[in-house]
Amino acid sequence: MAKLWGGRFSKATDALVDDFNSSIRFDARMYAQDIEGSQAHAEMLGRQGIIPKEDAALIVKTLGEIRQDIEDGKIEFQIDAEDIHMNIETILISRIGDVGKRLHTGRSRNDQVALDIRMYLRHEIDEISALLKALRKTLLTIAQENLTTVMPGYTHLQKAQPITLAHHVMAYYEMLRRDGMRLSDCRKRLNIMPLGSGALAGTTYPLDRAFVAEKLGFDDITKNSLDGVSDRDFVCELAFDLSAIMMHLSRFSEEIILWSSHEFGFIELDDAYSTGSSIMPQKKNPDVAELVRGKTGRVYGALTGLLTMMKGLPLAYNKDMQEDKEQIFDAVDTVKMCLPVFEKMLATMRVKKDNMLRGAKGGFTNATDAADYLVKKGLPFRDAHAAVGKMVAYCIEKDTVIDALSIQELKAFSPLIEEDFYDAVSLHTCVSQRKLPGGPAAETVKAAIEAYQKEEA
Ligand code: ARG
Repeated sequence: MAKLWGGRFSKATDALVDDFNSSIRFDARMYAQDIEGSQAHAEMLGRQGIIPKEDAALIVKTLGEIRQDIEDGKIEFQIDAEDIHMNIETILISRIGDVGKRLHTGRSRNDQVALDIRMYLRHEIDEISALLKALRKTLLTIAQENLTTVMPGYTHLQKAQPITLAHHVMAYYEMLRRDGMRLSDCRKRLNIMPLGSGALAGTTYPLDRAFVAEKLGFDDITKNSLDGVSDRDFVCELAFDLSAIMMHLSRFSEEIILWSSHEFGFIELDDAYSTGSSIMPQKKNPDVAELVRGKTGRVYGALTGLLTMMKGLPLAYNKDMQEDKEQIFDAVDTVKMCLPVFEKMLATMRVKKDNMLRGAKGGFTNATDAADYLVKKGLPFRDAHAAVGKMVAYCIEKDTVIDALSIQELKAFSPLIEEDFYDAVSLHTCVSQRKLPGGPAAETVKAAIEAYQKEEA
């Protein structure tokens, strides 16, 4: 096939180069954005008198028909037409000849691809934001149902202090809420219209850039033509935002995997969200959580790949930048696959409240509260810490727990200890007294949940 840019060439492109150079295999997915962008550009060219109005109208109409044919599976894209932009332009010209040849007036593929990728990613950001919101709502439901489900909180994966499952789940809620805010922030910087940048130096035609921006739902136009065609910050930024989502899902996955182990026994995943072993009949594996954790690597890979791809590029457009697509598309696809399955896995899991409570009872999770009790009786904190440390060592020796010691045994560690000690170190008190803002007390967490339910509505 003759190339649209073939004028100065006397030889055909080698088939190997066609194959190597072509991006149609992966950029075909931007067909709708390419067509919408071209329709807006053509309409503007007509309005500005740069091309005849009736030519503009025919281009707009024919592009609409091409879009329908693509959606009906009637079109086979050509490798040697290189990318989605030239494939569509080639089809347009094959249908309406010279009129179609007027479309690319005052435009370059460099600003065209910058436009398409922005429009495409804008759409994906909206879809991912909706999926993220659905997951956050499920977290709110789980939290609401577990306001008093006491479990051990950990640091260093060693039991630390008692918390509730609601408080734990709401920690992830906070992360995913920030992830949502990051996405909408990224959308703002991405939603700037680059057409009119031309290849790099703008154009002499009197384009109405503001009209095109408005028509295509952009908030503004790019302010420097070199930057307009060579900026991929927004792709890197989105890759980071997606990486942060995956980091959060991956940490949660790690906990789901631990919690569903026999050793923890805090949850049981639903059969529909687990898998078995081909050899060991007893097995029920948390494959969904493991795969989410595993897929995190490829999203980080996209971020690293994109930053590395951009780091040495002189202004303005360089073909290297075609490499942005497979990476960001894969990252987007991965996150879109992970979010709903992760959400359903959580929504269907069974919480083993008794095991969580038992877990909280072991490991001296109330030791801090025992020390705080002594502080309230007047002892300096460091002395209280030391006294309870000895108490813990004594319990380990006797294979028992603080609250099982008799009052005589307790008084040996501090004469300040009275009968009210037992209530002060009960798990219920440990949790319910931590009611300052941000703490795990049921009333505090409930208030947070209710505020966020309004926000999500
Ligand atoms: N397929 C190219 C890309 O994805 C489109 C822009 C090509 N521009 C050019 N002058 N070769 O980046």
